[in-house]
Amino acid sequence: MPANLPRRQVLRTAGALGLGAAATGALQTTAAAAGSPDRVAAMGSPHGHGRLEIRKDPFGTTPEGVKVEVYTFTNGRVTISMLTWGATIQRVETPDRRGRTENISLGFDNLPDYAALSPYFGSTIGRYGNRIAKGRFTLDGQTYQIPVNNGENALHGGTIGFDKKVWKAKVVQTDKAVGVAFSYVSPDGEMGFPGELTTTVTYTLDKRDNLRIDYRATVAGKATVVNLTNHVYFNLAGEGSGSIDGHVLQLNAPSYTPVDAGLIPTGEIAPVAGTPFDFNKPTRIGKRIRDDHPQLVIGRGYDHNFVLGKADSDGLRFAARFWEPEEGRTVTVHTTEPGAQFYSGNFLDGTFQGIGNKSYRQGDAFAFETQHFPDSPNQPNFPSTVLRPGQTLTSTTIYSFGTK
Ligand code: GLA
Repeated sequence: MPANLPRRQVLRTAGALGLGAAATGALQTTAAAAGSPDRVAAMGSPHGHGRLEIRKDPFGTTPEGVKVEVYTFTNGRVTISMLTWGATIQRVETPDRRGRTENISLGFDNLPDYAALSPYFGSTIGRYGNRIAKGRFTLDGQTYQIPVNNGENALHGGTIGFDKKVWKAKVVQTDKAVGVAFSYVSPDGEMGFPGELTTTVTYTLDKRDNLRIDYRATVAGKATVVNLTNHVYFNLAGEGSGSIDGHVLQLNAPSYTPVDAGLIPTGEIAPVAGTPFDFNKPTRIGKRIRDDHPQLVIGRGYDHNFVLGKADSDGLRFAARFWEPEEGRTVTVHTTEPGAQFYSGNFLDGTFQGIGNKSYRQGDAFAFETQHFPDSPNQPNFPSTVLRPGQTLTSTTIYSFGTK
């Protein structure tokens, strides 16, 4: 899809979508919540871009008859497509150093493939990102069981997580940014989790090529545990273009959380210094990925939670920067979250083709899932993921696209 959208299908205002005054009010609130625009702008491209535009198209229908839409929003340079299925990032089109635009995110062009095959490509993940040991935890004296879906453990919220739900969508458009606020209400007991959880995740693209994700959640009735993230997979040379071994990574993490054979944290917070997990200086991902390190053997590569460096006064911290030296694309991540799962696409096995009809094999993409640490509900020394009635969870992650 070209970066410049056909005019007649472009939705410019909340009014064009048939949203009322209440919706417009919500848009203003979101813009105010977007924080320091200057700070955010400084993370992205130095160039100003074109008009902010958004459109909505049909994408498919679930077997239950629910319609799924694709929203496509652009600043004239970066173009992002998102589905109401799983509040999923379907495409991310960015220019390379020479101005050639390509889709850098793994995905599919149809709903049945998302439903049947997707290893969380671009999905919004909930209620609990990454693993809970044996799918079990105890909160306020009560033990809860999440259906296990990854060996003996629960992964990404159990068998039917937020990635497989159809979310409500509301266009967000200000003079600075454009995007979609997705919301989903998870009933008390869904996937075994306590409390009714109301989640809104707002994805906005600004004029400086920053894709900002604002998470917000509240729970009613009972306390619960929550760990929200997005599982976008990138290959900065273009989706389906082969290995990411040559990408250079800088990761602001003094330590990481080693795992057992089921990829559950042992509870240890291990320093990265002197190990293949030290990316504090920019290093090629492939340089040490096959080293004889027990954690790399267990993970079949990198599939670990990194403990990020301290946050700045506004709560955000520089987390990571990925750079593909040949075409020059970069993605820089800032987050308010204390951790991030750096996953080197180890379980991609070439058994299906994605949106560009290419097979995705082991190591053909990376994901960088900002998060609280895996299995926190069972790990007393990890930052808490408990959310109680009356509290509001807020969390922000920004992916900034550029070239170098
Ligand atoms: C996370 C996990 C990986 C893998 C992917 C999804 O990144 O840590 O082990 O399960 O999700 O395929």
